[in-house]
Amino acid sequence: MNTPRKAHNESTQARRAPTLVVGGTGKTGRRVVERLVARGQPVRVGSRSGTPPFDWEHPATWAPALRDAGAVYLTYYPDLAVPGAVEQVRSFVEAAADGGVRRLVLLSGRGEDEAQRAEQVVQDSGADWTILRASWFAQNFSESYLREPVLDGEVVLPAGNVAEPFVDADDIADAAVAALTEDGHAGRLYELTGPRLLTFAEAVNEIAAATGREIRYVEVSPEAYASALREAGVPAEFVWLLNYLFTTVLDGRNAHLTDGVRRAVGREPRDFAIYARDAAAAGMWSAPRAAHAASSS
Ligand SMILES: NC(=O)c1ccc[n+]([C@@H]2O[C@H](COP(=O)([O-])OP(=O)(O)OC[C@H]3O[C@@H](n4cnc5c(N)ncnc54)[C@H](OP(=O)(O)O)[C@@H]3O)[C@@H](O)[C@H]2O)c1
Repeated sequence: MNTPRKAHNESTQARRAPTLVVGGTGKTGRRVVERLVARGQPVRVGSRSGTPPFDWEHPATWAPALRDAGAVYLTYYPDLAVPGAVEQVRSFVEAAADGGVRRLVLLSGRGEDEAQRAEQVVQDSGADWTILRASWFAQNFSESYLREPVLDGEVVLPAGNVAEPFVDADDIADAAVAALTEDGHAGRLYELTGPRLLTFAEAVNEIAAATGREIRYVEVSPEAYASALREAGVPAEFVWLLNYLFTTVLDGRNAHLTDGVRRAVGREPRDFAIYARDAAAAGMWSAPRAAHAASSS
């Protein structure tokens, strides 16, 4: 029988059990870790540089990272769309459920069939689940592969005139922390977008305005983009992934806004102009490239 004392002990134990943040040094994971630590929650960073290390390519690292964890914020790298990702997520989710994880919050991608297969795996896990199905992150321009082109003053992409509702990684992190720490988010799927549709050219213009620098957007064909990436030494799987993202996912299927951020955290999402202003003020586009190499992924 679940006496009041037993229930109290169980909920205290659940609060003390660490939350494993997979990708805890990445764009959303780092923000989730910061927020959980600020709330005094025990956190374990799941990454190759974590203690213990967690590596998707080495399943033997998963159990030590999951030990005693009560909840997991699950991000995959590089993308749930890459071949083999869903199978890896399935094995990991089984290990998490077998190990006693009670709450799973999955970061998923909008408009990706493969990501939606991974969502189903999490939904079938038996744990309390929440899905965060996000649009393109604004932070790709400041903490990822689009930062160098911005610093170079020329962003060359095959993005066309398709509009995207860029979402701020801070909003995703707030939604993740709400789902990890509050009641009422189990069994919910939040489609997270920003409050405004922008083409990539318009996004680059917003960054130029925020930085006061001249930054050009240059449209190229997907073929020219892929061969430029290959010439620059980008590994074949990333060339495939970027081509997939710009041709298949960015075909207009996601060119509409949702109320997911408001439903998850009870406020409106941050606008891209605010993101650009804050990232510029934080020096994300003013330091020499090498200074921020460690934060790029
Ligand atoms: N970026 C977007 O616009 C976007 C939009 C929608 C959905 N998503 C989804 O978000 C997820 C994360 O993408 P992201 O671009 O935001 O990446 P990210 O979280 O910034 O990726 C970097 C993180 O992955 C870790 N990592 C890299 N290789 C790893 C490995 N082999 N094993 C374990 N951890 C590894 C890194 O830590 P270490 O280097 O320390 O290992 C770091 O914590 C993907 O599933 C993607 O589909 C992204």
